[in-house]
Amino acid sequence: MLLLRCAVGSREGTKRKRGHMASAVIVGAQWGDEGKGKIVDFLAGQADFVVRFQGGDNAGHTVYLGDRKYVFHILPSGMLRPGVTCVIGSGVVLNLRRLADEISEVGISEQDITARLRISGETALILPCHMARDRSEESSRGKGRIGTTQRGIGPAYVDVANRTAVRMADTLDEDWFRKRLAICLESKRDSLEGSEFSEACDFEKTASETLRLARRFAPLVCDASALLEEARAKGKNLLFEGAQGTMLDVHAGTYPYVTSSNTVAGGACVGSGVGPRAIGRILGVAKAYTTRVGEGPFPTELIGETGERLRETGGEYGATTRRPRRCGWLDIVQLRRAVRLNSLDGIVLTKLDVLDGFDRIGVCTAYRVKGRCMTEWPVNPADLESVEPEIEFMPGWLAATSCAGGYDALPAAARNYVEAVEKWLGVPVAMVTAGKERDDIIVRQPVF
Ligand code: IMP
Repeated sequence: MLLLRCAVGSREGTKRKRGHMASAVIVGAQWGDEGKGKIVDFLAGQADFVVRFQGGDNAGHTVYLGDRKYVFHILPSGMLRPGVTCVIGSGVVLNLRRLADEISEVGISEQDITARLRISGETALILPCHMARDRSEESSRGKGRIGTTQRGIGPAYVDVANRTAVRMADTLDEDWFRKRLAICLESKRDSLEGSEFSEACDFEKTASETLRLARRFAPLVCDASALLEEARAKGKNLLFEGAQGTMLDVHAGTYPYVTSSNTVAGGACVGSGVGPRAIGRILGVAKAYTTRVGEGPFPTELIGETGERLRETGGEYGATTRRPRRCGWLDIVQLRRAVRLNSLDGIVLTKLDVLDGFDRIGVCTAYRVKGRCMTEWPVNPADLESVEPEIEFMPGWLAATSCAGGYDALPAAARNYVEAVEKWLGVPVAMVTAGKERDDIIVRQPVF
């Protein structure tokens, strides 16, 4: 794997001069599940800090290492790289019980956690009442359900905006924590009292369980903004890890079928405590086709044999919920929007090998709405109900792609596909992945 070695270098070999830090943001360019975990794990080999900046344990970032599969839901995907400090940023909503479980599932030692994990004091907690509320709201939505992961994400962010959240730093003083918890639970009393959720809103039960877990993690609580600024001043490499994807952004996504955080690159600033000038390169991860899990518009969705084939070949089942993902061709209209919303410097095109067996590959280059051709995402949400994708077909390569020989060794039709995507989007495809392993990456433009 010569190419990989050249691209990654050793950690020593990539150290920067003091004051010459580099930073990069990795976001999902589609509806999540693009393969961000693998990319963050790979780039973490050259980073000093990895910062998760939004979302919660609704994410499922998968990393294959040897014969082991690791799925990170809340831990940053840099945890498998010794020497990298991983930060849970202020834009995240954190379920402490799930964090504790994940640490044991992944098998990270307490010593490693103490040395390498930090949690922003401003991170809001997901409490049992949030999960109960997520479940109850989803079931009362009936046909209009969003298809949430039921991890309490939306209700936890409601508390943040409502100023009724309990944050990590609140747990450092028991009296203060009890006051904050009372306010948080009080704000839900009317809607949940007397229901099956009364247990989830039980003050003493929530207080004792949360404090027990919080005590374990108290030494990790920090001012993430100051920590990252100090790292910057020392010339450290920072990597900001987004979760979900651009089209699930609470503002810019397919509202209301979205998650409740800012998944776009701008979220890296507010969710980490760094200013916009601290951001260097911005990469959007996109599959070579498109998937979506949960409800909501999906213009290139393929219902039938081809969609089923993409799902089976790509193993498109949720890493968090195991739900089958909806599958379709690559959507250039949607991706152009992602390029703009995130100021993408480049695309990381993943899972190219899933297309190996297709004799022709569809790409949506425009939409047709009520007979009108559109090259931008429709403003009117009602238009999305009748949107029809205009599909151009490109020749498939009908050969096994592998990263081993580098970009030039890819089949000509596969390179054609990659280069057509670059032309359509107007940004380079900086990396390509074909295969699960950490090393199955072709780097065309180094990040750090
Ligand atoms: P929530 O984030 O659990 O509230 O779910 C809101 C929407 O975002 C649902 O359609 C979920 O399926 C989707 N979603 C949340 N997290 C992920 C993810 O990590 N990958 C893909 N979809 C996600």
